[in-house]
Amino acid sequence: MGKVFICDHPLIQHKLTFIRDETTNTKDFRELVDEVATLMAYEITRDIPLEKTTVKTPVSEAECQIISGRMLGLIPILRAGLGMVDGVLKLIPAAKVGHIGLYRDPETLQPVEYYVKLPTDVTERELIVIDPMLATGGSAIAAIDVLKKRNCTQIKMMNLIASPEGIRAVQEAHPDVDIYVAAIDTYLNEHGYIVPGLGDAGDRLFGTK
Ligand code: PRP
Ligand code: URA
Repeated sequence: MGKVFICDHPLIQHKLTFIRDETTNTKDFRELVDEVATLMAYEITRDIPLEKTTVKTPVSEAECQIISGRMLGLIPILRAGLGMVDGVLKLIPAAKVGHIGLYRDPETLQPVEYYVKLPTDVTERELIVIDPMLATGGSAIAAIDVLKKRNCTQIKMMNLIASPEGIRAVQEAHPDVDIYVAAIDTYLNEHGYIVPGLGDAGDRLFGTK
């Protein structure tokens, strides 16, 4: 069963409060999501391996450490996932970015795929699927399916807010995928929105409502 990590750093929780607030305007919303993504990237990379190296300081040789192992790939789910990409890239600038375009059919809540473009070496990378919202879990499961069909094996999921139902669905469909969230909310309403949530993440990021 995939583990769930709640990124409960005070800065993340503080900024998430303003992200949720309906009076936060588009500019501030976008900046806050970007900042929280950077802070979450710090948590999600906590277990990446290090190897020893030596550098010469102006004073002497120093035994140091550098990151080793697989390179990273970021996989935002369009559209709203785009809002978190730059924040993660600030800490991991060498990561490549692949895009998976999905939207939720408003009636059935089922994800509809409309775009996939992945790095050519995607199977060699450790991947972080990025989306602010994990609601029914349908979009996350479909995005991970897309990656696994292309033989990707090391996948983590990163969301700002998840519902308990969404977490359970991803854990059942993809038990090998760990999930990093800033908050787990109470429930999904009859329209598939997370309560209390933050509303429609894509609309709030891009000012389309
Ligand atoms: C939102 C969100 C997720 C999805 C979550 O995207 O960004 O991708 O819904 O819902 P689920 O867990 O029930 O699948 P949306 O379909 O609204 O598209 P958008 O990002 O283009 O606005
Ligand atoms: N997508 C969103 O943007 N918000 C929700 O609450 C659920 C799905």
